[in-house]
Amino acid sequence: MRIYAVKNYEEMSRKAANIVSAQVILKPDCVLGLATGSTPEGLYKQLKDWYQKGDLDFAQVKSVNLDEYRGLSPENEQSYHYYMKKHLFSGINIKAENTHLPNGMAEDEAAECMRYDNVVKRMGGVDLQILGLGGNGHIGFNEPCENFAKGTHCVHLTESTIAANARFFDDPEKVPEYAFSVGIRTIMMAKKILLVVSGKGKADALHKTLFGPINPRVPSSILQLHPDVIIVADEEALSQIDRSDDKSGDIYFC
Ligand code: F6R
Repeated sequence: MRIYAVKNYEEMSRKAANIVSAQVILKPDCVLGLATGSTPEGLYKQLKDWYQKGDLDFAQVKSVNLDEYRGLSPENEQSYHYYMKKHLFSGINIKAENTHLPNGMAEDEAAECMRYDNVVKRMGGVDLQILGLGGNGHIGFNEPCENFAKGTHCVHLTESTIAANARFFDDPEKVPEYAFSVGIRTIMMAKKILLVVSGKGKADALHKTLFGPINPRVPSSILQLHPDVIIVADEEALSQIDRSDDKSGDIYFC
């Protein structure tokens, strides 16, 4: 595990964008696993800027998102389809047919989960998976629970996640209670994982991710078992991390 310790959100976004750019340059037809939420917004903005300057080309890139709210159509401004269009896809030359998200409007839950797992399989897996971190340790919408979920599933979001995401909705009552999310197995099968973390609100979750017991009650703790994880985190997010906590010497601080 490598941790890039940066000062603030701007530096985190730029460093993370550098890592994604390197992936796209080294493998122009790579599969990017994408996250939504406020943390990667700056990273996506930076990628758009570099694309517009002619430094990046997404013509052959394929993408697969982690999750989508159940019951929201792509036209709904709070849907993750809408978010991706707004924050990334509309500003780069990725082909619409190469971008994938779960269908929040699917009526048959099991069929949609199977369809989405097959989408990821047909792509040959994810080269670089971008992740944000929930305050409760969720990754994708894999919420704290008794067992790590394997494939795509429909999740009943926890109250803390619904409350955290209410800031994106005009009416907090409208935050969906359910979402489709890829499973932990899909995330763990990515060749490389890039976790971006910013702010004090994530400090406890980041500490547990790195040093806590590997436990589905803190889903992100499973990342300790992945062979190639890069974390870009700012000072506030790292405020509970003491380098001497790394007894195993598994973490390389950059
Ligand atoms: C979103 C996702 C979530 C977010 C997490 C952090 O696609 O997968 O796991 O990454 O909820 O959200 P922010 O960045 O808004 O704090």
